[in-house]
Amino acid sequence: MTGPGVVTTETMQPDLVETGEVQEKQPPKSKPDPSGRAVFRVWRGDRQGGKLVDYTTTITPGMVVLDVIHQIQAEQANDLAVRWNCKAGKCGSCSAEVNGSPKLMCMTRLSELPLEKPVTVEPMRAFPPVKDLVTDVSWNFKVKQRIKPFTARAADAPDGTWRMDQSDVDRVQEFRKCIECFLCQDVCHVLRDHHLHDDFIGPRFLVHVAALEMHPLDVEDRIEELRRAHGIGYCNITKCCTKVCPEHITITDNAIIPLKERGVDEFFDPLGKLVKIFSTRSRVASRESAD
Ligand code: SF4
Ligand code: SF4
Ligand code: FES
Repeated sequence: MTGPGVVTTETMQPDLVETGEVQEKQPPKSKPDPSGRAVFRVWRGDRQGGKLVDYTTTITPGMVVLDVIHQIQAEQANDLAVRWNCKAGKCGSCSAEVNGSPKLMCMTRLSELPLEKPVTVEPMRAFPPVKDLVTDVSWNFKVKQRIKPFTARAADAPDGTWRMDQSDVDRVQEFRKCIECFLCQDVCHVLRDHHLHDDFIGPRFLVHVAALEMHPLDVEDRIEELRRAHGIGYCNITKCCTKVCPEHITITDNAIIPLKERGVDEFFDPLGKLVKIFSTRSRVASRESAD
């Protein structure tokens, strides 16, 4: 019997159509997790100098480079200095150079490395060594203090709230993923090879400036000082910084290139700059009259 509100038993039967053999999705093929013994060539030293020292140690499946360093520290070199905190790729403390590449030690699996030859583990070269794998990254914090801070425009509504377009919010969200590991600073040839720390703020802080400049509420203008004091002109878009970022921030395409374009616009389009100044002033004036 059929009709409104009546369900025939036929429609409640399970689907018995022959679908053939079910193919389970296979995980991507990866190298088998290594076990046995391997040699780690670790830099030992301080500001006065140092050398690479070989440690042969036992490795077990699932290990990352930071595990090996801790094991060497526990079993063979109690005074081996290493900075780390979260062991989850989130604090940005365990940055070092593994086989010459800037890496987070806690996120570098041994299964990714050729263990048939010694694995080198060295401190970041763009910063002065303190001891063994620990470098002095305090220069970065001083650089940050030189950048004009966030300055919000007047509130959009009498209740003190703002209105923002979601696409403007999304654009800066990527930059806020930075964990300040400074691997991008370490790989950048302007700092690493040419040591222009006094003249160039480096990719990490170009990301920081981009986050401020593209913030939908910010009214500060940092473009002139980017060129004059922060050395954006030294960046020749090699994209090395983007390649090493553990947070996969598209440093060059999404931060540095738009900042360079803004600089060109301001330099070659003074009328556009005037419009920006006047629109900022009128926003400030409207905020003052609202107060
Ligand atoms: S793209 Fe620019 S900031 Fe990034 S590593 Fe190359 S020169 Fe340095
Ligand atoms: S931008 Fe990426 S590589 Fe550079 S400090 Fe931030 S998280 Fe590290
Ligand atoms: S220990 Fe925190 S990122 Fe490696």
